[in-house]
This record gives sequence, structure tokens and C-alpha cells, in this order.
Amino acid sequence: MTRLSGKSALITGAARGIGRAFAEAYVREGARVAIADIDIARARQTAAEIGEAAIAVELDVTKQESIDAAVVETVAAFGQIDILINNAAIFSAAPIVEIDRADYSRVFDINVAGTLFTLQAVARHMIDRGIKGRIINMASQAGRRGESLVATYCATKAAVISLTQSAGLNLIAHGINVNAIAPGVVDGEHWDGVDAFFARYEGKAPGQKKREVGEAVPYGRMGRAEDLTGMAVFLASDEAEYIVAQCYNVDGGQWMS
Ligand SMILES: NC(=O)c1ccc[n+]([C@@H]2O[C@H](COP(=O)([O-])OP(=O)(O)OC[C@H]3O[C@@H](n4cnc5c(N)ncnc54)[C@H](O)[C@@H]3O)[C@@H](O)[C@H]2O)c1
Repeated sequence: MTRLSGKSALITGAARGIGRAFAEAYVREGARVAIADIDIARARQTAAEIGEAAIAVELDVTKQESIDAAVVETVAAFGQIDILINNAAIFSAAPIVEIDRADYSRVFDINVAGTLFTLQAVARHMIDRGIKGRIINMASQAGRRGESLVATYCATKAAVISLTQSAGLNLIAHGINVNAIAPGVVDGEHWDGVDAFFARYEGKAPGQKKREVGEAVPYGRMGRAEDLTGMAVFLASDEAEYIVAQCYNVDGGQWMS
């Protein structure tokens, strides 16, 4: 299928995991994709594996000059940016009494400020060029409800849902649709790190937390990155033109809202 034929996308944090699956799905649908990541070596490898419709772009979403340079580089390669997926994020966990201010600032800087200012830079480009673009922010079920050991990360994802609503309402006046996807638990390197946090704080054996969360999903297993690609393609497609400022759960039945 070629629902994104002729479109150009910039996907942050796409060197691996869910962002990489989005890049592969977008290319299958006819788009060209910039794999924008702080891990440029991995981004280059991913882009090379995807093929000539993908390029690697170095991006640190905590640095404005890096965001601006990534936009310029992507526009130079593709002519314009039609779709942005704000996917880069990091996880953090600790009991409330152990939360460290530097870690809190770092997680908010990447997950919230990184999302807002990448969205802003791409929105400015879209407005300047009159592009009726699409912006998709990666939220999480963690943004729907707090969790005992995950205060900072949950707060960042609640902020991403809120920013999606405000940006969605503001930018639709320019014909730019902003929406979000809230995954549940998605297996991959990210969750290897989450599992290690819970092993430390809940005294669980390696792999135990993953097993438990997978069994708790109504669908019956953890998500896979590929489970999310249908929604990411749909939200970027012409079919989603009337969808504004929403956050969709794609989580095997975990959350209802
Ligand atoms: N995996 C899950 O269970 C899950 C669940 C809900 C939401 N999410 C969200 O989905 C998105 C993707 O998750 P994932 O599991 O693929 O994560 P991941 O950790 O596998 O990938 C994140 C990518 O972001 C990049 N990155 C980190 N800091 C960056 C920075 N400062 N600038 C640019 N790139 C940076 C990393 O290099 C990495 O390639 C994230 O927003 C995450 O919060 C994941």
C-alpha cells in the first residue's frame, strides 16, 4: 500500500525500537524517512538497513541548535517535512523519596521539552511552507495514571498528552493535525531497561517484571513495536484529516479513556 506516497517524515529516536518500526512502516507506505537520533551510529545502520528511502540525521532533542539543524538537514534531503513523530524519550524509575533532581530534569528535558521544541521547529517549517502536516507525539499509558515507582516518567507522559491537546488546538488553524499514541507495554530494548529498574526496586528476578506485565495485558501478551504501526500510518494518512488533539491507546486493552 502507498498511503504515504510522496510524503517525507522526520521520526525522532528512530534508530531502534518503536521509532524504527514506524520508519519501516512509513517507507512501506511510500514515504521517505529521516531516522533522527542521538545515537547516530545506530541511526546510520538502521537507515542503511531500511534502504534508500531512509536517511540518518543526528539529533539531540535537548539542544535547540541540534533540533534546528535536523530540520534543515531533513528539508535539504527531502524538500520538506510532511510528518513528524516525536518518539524519542527515556525512562526513569525510583521511589518518591529517592528521586534525584538532575535525573528529573534530564527526563523532562528529553521527554517534554524535546517533544515541544521539536514540534515547534517542524510546525514553523510547515506553516512557512503552507504544509498541511501531521504531528504525532508518543505518549504512554504511563501518562494516563501515576505509578508508585515511576513518578517522573509518568508525569512527562501526562505532559505529552496535555501538550498534544494544546498544540492540536493551536495548529489545526494552520491545517496541521497533532495527535498522540499511548502504547501500553511494548517489548524491546526500552523494556529491558524497565525490567532492570523493577528488578532493583522490587527485588524481582531479571525478566520477571516483563512476564508479569505481559500476562496482565487483556490481549494476553506484551505489545510489539509492529502493533503500533497501523495507528501511526493511519494518523499520518488522508483518512485522519478530521482527527485533532487526540491521544489513542494502542495497548491490548489495558486502558480505557
Ligand atoms: N516500550 C514501551 O513499552 C513503551 C510504552 C509506552 C510508551 N513508549 C514510548 O514510545 C517511544 C519509543 O519507545 P521505545 O520502546 O522504542 O524506546 P527506545 O528506548 O527503544 O528508543 C528510544 C530512542 O530514543 C533515542 N533518544 C534518547 N535520547 C534522545 C535524545 N536526547 N535525542 C534524540 N534521540 C534520543 C535513543 O537513542 C533511542 O534510539 C518513547 O516515547 C516511549 O516513551 C514506549
